Amino acid sequence: MSHALLVTGGGGLLGSAVVDHLGARGRGDAVLAPRRADLDLLDGPATLAWFREHRPARVIHLAGHVRGLAGNMGNQLDGLVLNSQMGLNLITACAAFPPERLVIGGSTSAYAFPFPRLPLVEDDLLAGDVHPGEHGYASAHRLLIAGADALRRDAGVDARVAVLTNLFGPRDRFEGTAAHVVPALIARFTAAADDGADEVAVWGNPDTTRDLMYSEDAAAAVVAVLDADEAPGLLNVASGTERTMGEIAATIAAATGYTGGISWDDAMPVGVPRRAVDVSRLRALMPAPEEIGFAEGIRRTAAWYRDNRRAG
Ligand SMILES: NC(=O)c1ccc[n+]([C@@H]2O[C@H](COP(=O)([O-])OP(=O)(O)OC[C@H]3O[C@@H](n4cnc5c(N)ncnc54)[C@H](OP(=O)(O)O)[C@@H]3O)[C@@H](O)[C@H]2O)c1
Repeated sequence: MSHALLVTGGGGLLGSAVVDHLGARGRGDAVLAPRRADLDLLDGPATLAWFREHRPARVIHLAGHVRGLAGNMGNQLDGLVLNSQMGLNLITACAAFPPERLVIGGSTSAYAFPFPRLPLVEDDLLAGDVHPGEHGYASAHRLLIAGADALRRDAGVDARVAVLTNLFGPRDRFEGTAAHVVPALIARFTAAADDGADEVAVWGNPDTTRDLMYSEDAAAAVVAVLDADEAPGLLNVASGTERTMGEIAATIAAATGYTGGISWDDAMPVGVPRRAVDVSRLRALMPAPEEIGFAEGIRRTAAWYRDNRRAG
């Protein structure tokens, strides 16, 4: 077996942060991060052929068809079918040419809803059906958990699922229905600051809560999950801090230079009313899940957007 480390989705928000993280620590030589044009995970035979040729010793699977709430609500089939097909092709290739270790990027959207308790604890993940708003995407993430379990049992692969909270960072999608809430707000507040607007209307309710994690911090956590000699098969990767949308919007406004007012449009869908995530399992691998943190992460992301929005 080679020493190669395959990172799928290496051009994406989290995957590119993982590739950068490994490169900055002198581990870039081992990394193979083929873009979709070189390894299309929707093509089963091509995925098997790629694994036959490269035989990666370790795999981090972060490719996916990823959309914000509005994008997932309008594309249940895409969320289900594309993510399931990519995942099953990857799992099939890992069964045929088993790596020593596999980390799959999961999602807190896969948690049973209504939540049995908050913060979310891994043992409760499958304790009911998922939230209907993201049924397709979340169900595909559940399939990946089953795939990791089967690889552990039947193929001897040390497979771990990092159940990711909402992420944000450079190279995200900032416009359109594919954007998650943080990049969408960064784009809107930046435009409002430039235009000298005196009010921005935000979807939902300022008391809604989320756990948000900066992409570089999430990348460090994913690599810690990969590197740990022993780790549970399922563990949350999150900040462990529950923040209100009011605080999130105010932090983004300040980072973009927007000084006007914020109004709330309660008629628009907001998804789950509260999301808080328990990070005890992650803390056993890395004492502090965040190095850069929320406020500095927002500042860096807003600055990246200002510098790159016309190019992107
Ligand atoms: N972003 C979040 O807030 C969040 C939250 C929870 C969980 N997650 C999960 O974390 C993982 C990474 O998310 P992300 O936000 O980094 O996604 P992203 O920025 O949308 O990146 C997705 C990546 O998947 C690749 N990809 C798409 N279709 C492919 C195909 N057919 N074959 C090969 N590669 C393909 C894309 O490659 P190209 O660029 O080459 O097209 C892209 O690099 C996903 O599993 C996602 O569900 C994300």
